[in-house]
Amino acid sequence: MMKIKTMMCIMLLTLTGISGLFAQERDPRILVAYFSWSGNSRLIAAEIHRRVGGDLVEIEMVTPYSRTYNTCLDQSLRDLRAGIHPSLKTLETDVAGYDVVFLGYPTWWATIPMPVATFLESCDFTGKIIAPFNSHGGGRLGQTVSAIAKLCPSVKITQALSIHYGGGRTLGSDIDAWLTEIGMAR
Ligand SMILES: Cc1cc2nc3c(=O)[nH]c(=O)nc-3n(C[C@H](O)[C@H](O)[C@H](O)COP(=O)(O)O)c2cc1C
Repeated sequence: MMKIKTMMCIMLLTLTGISGLFAQERDPRILVAYFSWSGNSRLIAAEIHRRVGGDLVEIEMVTPYSRTYNTCLDQSLRDLRAGIHPSLKTLETDVAGYDVVFLGYPTWWATIPMPVATFLESCDFTGKIIAPFNSHGGGRLGQTVSAIAKLCPSVKITQALSIHYGGGRTLGSDIDAWLTEIGMAR
């Protein structure tokens, strides 16, 4: 009998997973932070923020990549290959003050843009939860979530949301389903 009870407890803990963590944190302090080059991740961030509340900030480079697509491709690939994490403008808020960080970015070269790497390495995410969401052109999440985990080994990462470009008409319902899945629907 004890064995069955123990097994049921383990199953329950496994099933609740990260959503159980949200349940413990009754009123988590929420930050929605995003990097966006052409506006899609910004749009998704705004929709998520409208639903979950908290604060919304943009991750901005001191010297932004070119607005010309091909030049941006070259610049971002150069930084990726050289392992350059470009300098960011000072964030309008301190990540230390939040429990949950919704982190948005486009898939670039099948991974996170290097400015997002700068953001991750410049903040202490210990004890926090990162909820990743991204915009992509066909490659979905690529290696982005493992890149986040590598840069922040102590962080808890939820199931990620991946949206094709701006998401179209299903964006709202896709976000709602995801928020429910990770236990953050209000
Ligand atoms: C430098 C660069 C690299 C990209 N690499 C990829 C990629 O590897 N896989 C993919 O699916 N889309 C890739 N894309 C397309 C973007 O992920 C897509 O356009 C996304 O919607 C852009 O989001 P944003 O508007 O927030 O910048 C790339 C775009 C750029 C500018």
